[in-house]
Amino acid sequence: MLEIDELDVQYGHIHAVRGVSLTVAPGEIVTLLGANGAGKSSLLKATVGLEPVAGGRVSWRGQRLDHLSTHQVVRTGVALVPEGRQILPTMTVRDNLLLGSFQFHAHRLRDLLGPVGWLFRDPGLQERLERVYRLFPRLKERQGQMAGSLSGGEQQMLATGRALMASPELLLLDEPSIGLAPNLVRDTMGLLARLRNEGLTILLVEQDAHAALRIADRGYVMETGRIVAEGSARELLSSQRMRRAYLGMA
Ligand SMILES: Nc1ncnc2c1ncn2[C@@H]1O[C@H](COP(=O)(O)OP(=O)(O)OP(=O)(O)O)[C@@H](O)[C@H]1O
Ligand SMILES: [Mg+2]
Repeated sequence: MLEIDELDVQYGHIHAVRGVSLTVAPGEIVTLLGANGAGKSSLLKATVGLEPVAGGRVSWRGQRLDHLSTHQVVRTGVALVPEGRQILPTMTVRDNLLLGSFQFHAHRLRDLLGPVGWLFRDPGLQERLERVYRLFPRLKERQGQMAGSLSGGEQQMLATGRALMASPELLLLDEPSIGLAPNLVRDTMGLLARLRNEGLTILLVEQDAHAALRIADRGYVMETGRIVAEGSARELLSSQRMRRAYLGMA
């Protein structure tokens, strides 16, 4: 269970997340919706230690995550697919994927000598790489190609694959469908539903509320740093306010 309790995130005098509480139970897909600037990315980043927690608590399976460094958070089984994908364009697809594993094993670096040797001493590495290639055959075809030459949709696959290289139990995704054509948005949501069926727990930040609520069990809506609505996907899809503000319906 992910439990976020009264979370505050602040950038100087900008109060981006204000006392937000939410939970994600094992095996759930929960979506976090809201307009630009609502604080969604700040919440995800604070959860994985990429921004400091100014107040409140974040815990995962009973363990406090706030005040852990990002690589410690990754070791607890939590991985983030960041906004804007953040792939390394001048490295190959394969090396980008190996970096997902690097994040996971960075804590071991100081114990090991060679800059390369540690990669190959990780017995599960090849297996995880093969799993990612099974999920995304396109990445396998393109494994030797520079990541920057991938299409937008392929870069999203790479960002997701990289996070999966850490073998997370909880996957946080920040707008994975942004900029993708409708069929790729469907593919992305289909993949997330499949990963959940394989046992992953998912917190999904999305602009495309329709697409997210189709696969989500529950959702939360943020406005200017606060949660203003929450409910089952069905409740949110039928709420008048949601339909007007986020679903483009009368
Ligand atoms: N590093 C930062 N320094 C200062 N202000 C920031 C920083 N990051 C975010 N903010 C501000 O915090 C608020 C919340 O931003 P955040 O990126 O969390 O929103 P968001 O809901 O993810 O928006 P979007 O849908 O556009 O991605 C915004 O007003 C933003 O300008
Ligand atoms: Mg954002």
